[in-house]
Amino acid sequence: MKKILIGTHNKGKFREIAYLLSKKYKKVSPVSLKIPSPKETSKSFSGNSKLKVNFFSKFVDFPVISDDSGLCISSLKNKPGVYSARLAKRHGSFSKAMIFILKKMKHKKDRSAVFICSLSFKYPQKKPINVTGKIKGSIARSIRGKKGFGYDPIFIPNKYEKTFGQFSKLKKMRMDHRYQAFRKLKRKIKTL
Ligand code: IMP
Repeated sequence: MKKILIGTHNKGKFREIAYLLSKKYKKVSPVSLKIPSPKETSKSFSGNSKLKVNFFSKFVDFPVISDDSGLCISSLKNKPGVYSARLAKRHGSFSKAMIFILKKMKHKKDRSAVFICSLSFKYPQKKPINVTGKIKGSIARSIRGKKGFGYDPIFIPNKYEKTFGQFSKLKKMRMDHRYQAFRKLKRKIKTL
């Protein structure tokens, strides 16, 4: 069976990317190969996603797919953005980071936000192929729902009333920023 490394230590992302990929791939995690995470030194999603795919490719001789994603909130100058994971780390948990965001937004009229995902795919010895997907929405007034991961419980996609944390996992996986990016990638690499 053909192998692909899903270059992420984030269980939520791993699950989503594994779900999107063809069944003919054996999906390998860097955790199972004891591969560490690289330092995310870029200020852009695409920079970090390419950096990750190049890093993970050094450890295996089969294709690698990696993403860099995050939540950009208009009234917070598009933060936390590429620092989404680090904000949660700084606060000790995603719940605490979400409380922090909700407090900052208490008096903000503009609650618009966008989840962005830059997805990179790399064959051994080849250059990475990179695409970006987005989903627009708004920030809820409170934390709602226990499904999903990360900032899902405060993000309401446009045209819906529920947060991603209240969506079924399948429904969210079939519409989010990672899905949008994956669709673009699949147009470039048909075998995915
Ligand atoms: P990174 O790409 O490893 O820097 O981490 C991105 C961070 O953005 C994750 O740890 C989550 O906090 C957040 N994030 C990215 N995608 C999603 C999503 O689909 N739902 C909720 N949070 C997400």
